Amino acid sequence: MASVLLLPVVTLCLLGLSPVSHQEETKGQGRNFLSSMGLSELPQPAGSRHPRRHVPPALWRMFRRSESTRAEESDSCTVSEYGVRGNIIRYVQDQGQLISLGSNGSQACLEKQLFFNMSVLQPIEQLSLAQLEIKFHWRPLKASELLKRSWAIGVSLYKVIRATLRGVDPRASRRLLLTQSVQLQPEASSISIDLTPLAESWRKPGRNYGLVLQMLPLNAAAEESLGSGVDVLEVDFTFPQIQASLVAVSLNPHQCRSRQRRSAVRLPVASTNVCKARRLFIDFKDVGWHSWIIAPQGYMANYCHGECPFPLSESLNGTNHAILQTLVHSLDPHGTPQPCCVPIRLSPISMLYYDNNDNVVLRHYQDMVVDECGCR
Ligand SMILES: *[C@@H]1O[C@H](CO)[C@@H](O)[C@H](O)[C@H]1NC(C)=O
Ligand SMILES: *[C@@H]1O[C@H](CO)[C@@H](O)[C@H](O)[C@H]1NC(C)=O
Ligand SMILES: *[C@@H]1O[C@H](CO)[C@@H](O)[C@H](O)[C@H]1NC(C)=O
Repeated sequence: MASVLLLPVVTLCLLGLSPVSHQEETKGQGRNFLSSMGLSELPQPAGSRHPRRHVPPALWRMFRRSESTRAEESDSCTVSEYGVRGNIIRYVQDQGQLISLGSNGSQACLEKQLFFNMSVLQPIEQLSLAQLEIKFHWRPLKASELLKRSWAIGVSLYKVIRATLRGVDPRASRRLLLTQSVQLQPEASSISIDLTPLAESWRKPGRNYGLVLQMLPLNAAAEESLGSGVDVLEVDFTFPQIQASLVAVSLNPHQCRSRQRRSAVRLPVASTNVCKARRLFIDFKDVGWHSWIIAPQGYMANYCHGECPFPLSESLNGTNHAILQTLVHSLDPHGTPQPCCVPIRLSPISMLYYDNNDNVVLRHYQDMVVDECGCR
């Protein structure tokens, strides 16, 4: 069943001639396809071990929009939501650890490392944008309590510029990037900051020391009344849950051609045996890829099939070579085969999937759908 997935790139004409076993061929082709997605192997679904990350709503919106946009209006190598060049959008997951939760004398404070593995980008990709988004969720507190207290936290974000040895004050190797107070509220609050140059530097091996996020509770009410900046921590203060992602938009220039989207081609139900595109729906469940491809669940890929008979009519889009080949075939059917019925126009689709690091990725793939066939 897996071979159906390869139809956009395999000519049916060749089937049966291949000395390689069907299964090996399928595996090899599957690998080719994965490497074009920037993956070395099939992503292993985290599945039962821990729940998958949810797909960020912004990414869903972009996916739906790319599905519904007509080709002529859109350039598949620009991400209009961010106004930058790119054909790959990743939500790179934070892998940082909690550094400390406790009090340094007078003040409670929480420090968390933020670490984004930028090696998930292939060397060929050009990074256009890296935007850090941090969301704060105060689930443990009731809304009424929040209103009564008017809590806030002071957030400081540092970049770490080198590894620190034991016994050395880690603050010496940090540089402040941002400091801001975040109000506690029933809905999640968030902050975002553009870190493109820093994230670019993280792509070099051994250069990514990550970030440190420091949070101090502030009592906004006390701040007003005392005018003294920071209040002493109350015992029942609960730090928010933090969810950090690096939204990385990059461009793979090899996968950037001007987009010729299918003009909603409605293929006729096959009636004759002459070369033409036939309908084929590929369901990712059938090929076992549904565990890591989030959307679409399948798509109309189509395939080319049929004869390229003599005389080759114009509608078969034959090359001059194909016209001569059918001529020779008509004279010597056993010595020379007919030309092959192959895709001559393909169009892209967008796919949303999990990569090997469980990051959610939105990417445009060229040549996924057969629009037109011809004799070659
Ligand atoms: C506790 O941390 C705050 C903020 O980093 C700092 O200003 C203060 O000096 C620290 N206090 C002690 C006793 O280390
Ligand atoms: C980062 O990702 C690459 C590629 O997926 C992987 O080989 C490497 O082990 C990861 N590094 C860390 C620190 O997780
Ligand atoms: C050949 O191309 C034309 C348009 O260029 C298209 O309408 C026709 O379907 C194509 N022929 C086949 C067999 O797909």
